Amino acid sequence: KTTEMLAEKMPLTQRKEELKKMAAAYEGKQAPQIELQEQRALYHLMPPAGWLNDPNGLCWYKGRYHVFFQYSPFTPQGGMKMWGHYSSPDLLHYEYHGIAIAPDEAYDKDGVYSGSAICRGDKLYVFYTGNVKEEGDHDYILSGRGANVIRMESEDGIHFEKKTCILTNEDYPEECTCHVRDPKLYVGEDGAYRMVLGARLKEEKGAVLLYRSEDLLHFRLEGMYTTQEAFGYMWECPDIFEMEGHKILAVCPQGVERGSERYQNIYQSGYYVKDMDELTEWDMGFDFYAPQTFEAPDGRRILIGWAGVPDAGYDSNPMEEGWQHCLTVPRELTWHNGKIYQYPVRELTKLREGEWMPDNTGRVTIPGKCGEIIAEGIRTEQGAVYMDSGCVIKWDKGYVTLSFQDETGAGRSVRNAWVSKVESIRILVDVSVLEVYINHGEVVMTSRFFMKQPDMDVCFEGRAERLEFYRIGGRICETFSSDWGGVD
Ligand code: FRU
Repeated sequence: KTTEMLAEKMPLTQRKEELKKMAAAYEGKQAPQIELQEQRALYHLMPPAGWLNDPNGLCWYKGRYHVFFQYSPFTPQGGMKMWGHYSSPDLLHYEYHGIAIAPDEAYDKDGVYSGSAICRGDKLYVFYTGNVKEEGDHDYILSGRGANVIRMESEDGIHFEKKTCILTNEDYPEECTCHVRDPKLYVGEDGAYRMVLGARLKEEKGAVLLYRSEDLLHFRLEGMYTTQEAFGYMWECPDIFEMEGHKILAVCPQGVERGSERYQNIYQSGYYVKDMDELTEWDMGFDFYAPQTFEAPDGRRILIGWAGVPDAGYDSNPMEEGWQHCLTVPRELTWHNGKIYQYPVRELTKLREGEWMPDNTGRVTIPGKCGEIIAEGIRTEQGAVYMDSGCVIKWDKGYVTLSFQDETGAGRSVRNAWVSKVESIRILVDVSVLEVYINHGEVVMTSRFFMKQPDMDVCFEGRAERLEFYRIGGRICETFSSDWGGVD
């Protein structure tokens, strides 16, 4: 609320740079607190203060990876959205650049919403949704909200200029409500640019709009993707890419009925392969939404998600630490057995700092709150990994459950997943978040997890050909020192 109030009082022209400065000053003030934040993740990206949601603008540009994200710096409950920014040469060491894009024009005055990045020639272009809340009921779906596509450009990947309004509500097809957002750009097979946008149709159906452009300035509607029967009323954050010749359309449907085995969260996130018969969910845990993919310079397709879900109804952290949410680790996507597998990018094994051996009952204490558990060649049909006081990952043949029996789950209970047979498990633990990878990423489960003990207490029940326990050390972003944010 504070940001909104301050921003509303500020004339738009003056807002330019003001919000960025305010955020930097605030982050600078918060920075010394970081060392005291007991729940703060160390190798999952999260800003120095406030609220984070979707990853945005993921790309490799001029020798660095860029990870932007939906950021609301002034309160952990969220509010006016901007783009925060990290960059990294290697996905292991990150630099934090603060606010990259702030809302300072009439066409984005209520938020710089999600979007993506694309290189053209020597320049980097980003496209995002400029959110405008009109007077009155801006939650009314047929009017009251401006959903503009805005473009900005950069020559260094850090400083962005020349906001250009590319599309406004008038440009969207008649069937659409005013909920159209999250431009994702890519190069089509014919070499022309394409942009997909998530949409809510008037008939209460989620859809994706497809636009074509030769110059990244003029866009022409080329088509629309949707399912025959409505699958949710809105599709957010679309993405299109290929995996070994298979065309993938990823979307985040809202309004899908909750099932006991599938679609267990309030909003979904998954992908369709070509003929769009069924959505495959990216992640079966409690905390995952709005992922985005990009191509690394070596051709790998990498996905980063938001380790959170909007309106989830359970806590993401003790709010008194002044932050909420983080991103998942970057995951490499590969195509096996007709589906996409996700696995932490191989760079991450460099974060390991020593191996710990279990006793003969399978019990081990890894010092600190960051670690990795690997079981390869699982030989028992049933088994479990117990962590801290209340977190259990169990399998029974191909049936996997992730459950919390006490406050380590902060309101989370149980999530299920199926594979044909559990053969391997890898668990990444980072202070207050965990990612479980079954069978090298056939199924993934991401969740917040609020460890009570100062060290990682783990017990592995079952037999496996190889068991490995690692400590993971070090913060991946060291720029949160007390002198960060040296803006007056
Ligand atoms: C998804 C989303 C996007 C939107 C952004 C706003 O979580 O709702 O559709 O652009 O968040 O922060």
